[in-house]
Order: sequence, then structure tokens, then C-alpha cells
Amino acid sequence: MGKIIAVAQQKGGAGKTMLASQLAVAFAETASVAVLDIDPQASLTIWAKLRSTAAKAGHKITAANTAGWRLTTELEKLAAAHDIVLIDTPPVIDTDNRRAIRASHLVLIPLNPSPPDLWAAEGTLKMAAEEKRKVALVFNRAPASSKLRKRLEAEIAARRIRLLETALANRAGYANAFAEGLGVTEAGPTTIAAEEVRSLAAAIQNLLT
Ligand SMILES: Nc1ncnc2c1ncn2[C@@H]1O[C@H](COP(=O)(O)OP(=O)(O)OP(=O)(O)O)[C@@H](O)[C@H]1O
Ligand SMILES: [Mg+2]
Repeated sequence: MGKIIAVAQQKGGAGKTMLASQLAVAFAETASVAVLDIDPQASLTIWAKLRSTAAKAGHKITAANTAGWRLTTELEKLAAAHDIVLIDTPPVIDTDNRRAIRASHLVLIPLNPSPPDLWAAEGTLKMAAEEKRKVALVFNRAPASSKLRKRLEAEIAARRIRLLETALANRAGYANAFAEGLGVTEAGPTTIAAEEVRSLAAAIQNLLT
């Protein structure tokens, strides 16, 4: 049985879809990976379609999209056939998000390192707590150091919420790779972005074992 990671954050545009795609490609270097898109915006599904004809796309990633009552059985099927399943969720708190969180081993919450993004994550944090799921916050579009980032790190530590040490910076490479159906580890395997994503994937793998 594979491990299921729900990428969730009530706040729109925090980087859920980008993170799901980048991690899927990084994990696929050493594991069999599936992505499940439960967002009606279907960005990850479009990414997967682009990927199917992208010359630089390395390892195969299974892509599925579903919603509603089928979601849980679809997840069971994907987890039975893959080492890792990443779920990209819409920026809401609803029944499907709860289904995804309930089925997951880890809830990954991307956020910009600024307080309103943590406030916006409260609904997702509450749902993960209700479902007794392991949670990890990950800073996205993060400056290397800033007053706000430090303040937020202190607040997160005080609340004893797990924050992954590796953060993703704001880099055009992420958006560019996504637009090609790729991950940065494929589009530019020796870039700093690729290093960030590999380091993040390793930290997440540690949490799953
Ligand atoms: N680290 C980053 N560097 C540069 N661009 C980024 C980064 N993270 C995300 N983006 C860009 O920001 C936009 C929003 O990201 P994304 O679509 O992943 O957010 P989301 O949380 O999935 O949004 P939604 O809530 O609408 O589903 C996209 O255009 C994406 O390419
Ligand atoms: Mg999205």
C-alpha cells in the first residue's frame, strides 16, 4: 500500500498545484507515483496532459481526476498500485477535501511566509486535526530571510505545528516547468530550484516512513 499525500490549503494560489506537480516528478525518480486532481479547475490534469507529449518528461506518472463519492475508492486503487499518491485539492473546505484528508498519511500545506496565509490555513489545519492526520507546513515563494518569515516561524513553533525546513523560493523556473508539463528536476536538473524540490521530497519521505 502506497503513501497518500494531500496537498491542501484553503487559501487560493498558495502553490498547491505547483507543489503537487514538482513533488510528483521528484518522487518519480525513485518511486512509482500517481497524482489525483480533485480540483474542478483541473490545472494538474492539464499539466499531466502536457506531460504526456513533453520530450523532457522522464518517469511516467499516473494521472487521475475524480470527485465526490468515487474519490475514496479511486484513492484506494491508486495507493494499491503506486508507492506515492499526491492529491491536488481546491482552495475550499468541503466534503471532498475531507475525504482526501481522511485518506491521506500526510497533509501538506503550502503557504507564503506571511501571517495572513497562516490565518487562511486555519480551516485546513482544523480539518486535519479533526481527522487526526499528520500535517506539515511548507513555505512557498519564500524570501531567504525576512522579518515576516521569522515572525511566522516563531508563531508556528509556538503552536507546535510542523514546518518543513526546506522552503521553495519564488522562481520563474517553477512556473515555466509547470507550463511545459514538467518538474524543475527535469527542466533544469542542476538548478537551485531542482535542489530545493529534491530536498523537500527527501524531508517528506522521512515523514512518511
Ligand atoms: N515558488 C513559486 N515560484 C514562482 N511561481 C510560483 C511558485 N509557486 C506557485 N507559483 C505560481 O503561482 C500561481 C499559483 O500557484 P498554484 O496554481 O500552484 O496555486 P494553487 O494553490 O494550486 O491555486 P488554487 O488555490 O487556485 O488551486 C501559478 O501561476 C504558479 O505557477
Ligand atoms: Mg491549484
